[in-house]
Amino acid sequence: MNDLNFKRHRRLRRTESMRALVRETHLQTDDLIYPIFVVEGSRIKNEVASMPGVHQVSLDYLTEEMNELVDLGIRSVIVFGVPQEKDEVGSQAYHEEGIVQRAIRQIKEETPSLTVIADTCLCQYTDHGHCGVIREGDIANDESLEYLTKTAVSQAEAGADIIAPSNMMDGFVAAIRRGLDEAGYSHIPVMSYAVKYASSFYGPFRDAAHSSPQFGDRRAYQMDPSNRLEALREAESDVEEGADFLIVKPALAYLDIMREVKDRFNLPLVAYNVSGEYSMIKAAAQNGWVNEQEIVLEKLTAMKRAGADLIITYFAKDAARWLKQ
Ligand code: PBG
Repeated sequence: MNDLNFKRHRRLRRTESMRALVRETHLQTDDLIYPIFVVEGSRIKNEVASMPGVHQVSLDYLTEEMNELVDLGIRSVIVFGVPQEKDEVGSQAYHEEGIVQRAIRQIKEETPSLTVIADTCLCQYTDHGHCGVIREGDIANDESLEYLTKTAVSQAEAGADIIAPSNMMDGFVAAIRRGLDEAGYSHIPVMSYAVKYASSFYGPFRDAAHSSPQFGDRRAYQMDPSNRLEALREAESDVEEGADFLIVKPALAYLDIMREVKDRFNLPLVAYNVSGEYSMIKAAAQNGWVNEQEIVLEKLTAMKRAGADLIITYFAKDAARWLKQ
């Protein structure tokens, strides 16, 4: 007994079963989307130097990799292509025999239970490394939309279940939605990278995908990390243009944005837990500075608590293994 007037919150934390009873957020393997990098050539399984545990794989190793995901209970992958040839307009992005198109066909044939998401962008495919085409030193928004739409349609033709455009041109959802509908793919959803910041957390990805801009940076199309209202305007136009999912990217430094987007729009929300967020934890774990399993499950749970329904993460395989235990 005490005569102080205070509340006893610890009553609900006394035992593990009590804590399980009042737990508000649950992370499940079904929430996880695994990113893969496919390269041309054969017998290639290159570990990305800045992303320990993440590999670029050639098609002859792809099915093995996909079977591993199926065994772990992971049901979706997002595919990034690393082409051999690049040109001014990124024509390998929409080539019928492009690396992504071949990878998608193979996954749908050999591991049909997986949901295949195609990342729709030009930066891995253009020789200048920008996400659109360049005219007079500038990224030409509306002309880029034509190439991006062709890319999305070619990915749907190859069998992609979801189109995920990450290029941040204005109107990309409207253009791609119309393109898909006209080509007979009105049943294919668009998972829009609606809120994508110009972030230093993408550094390791550019090693993995060879997609660094050869001049300038992406700040004329990706968002300024200082802005919150602009994120809501971006999300709003994507909803109006017909997006089926909204992505917020990166994840950890933008949990506030995730919460606001979730509260305002009634679409499934996806957190993109990006490469830099992965590599920092890997490096700290390799040094024995943090407990990798605990820290990864904590941060993935935090993304869900912030409103994410789904998480694209390079930790998907590890997390699926830990969640099984
Ligand atoms: C392509 C794209 C990028 C990422 C996903 N799609 C890179 C970029 O915009 O520079 C980053 C993913 C990551 O860092 O894990 N536009």
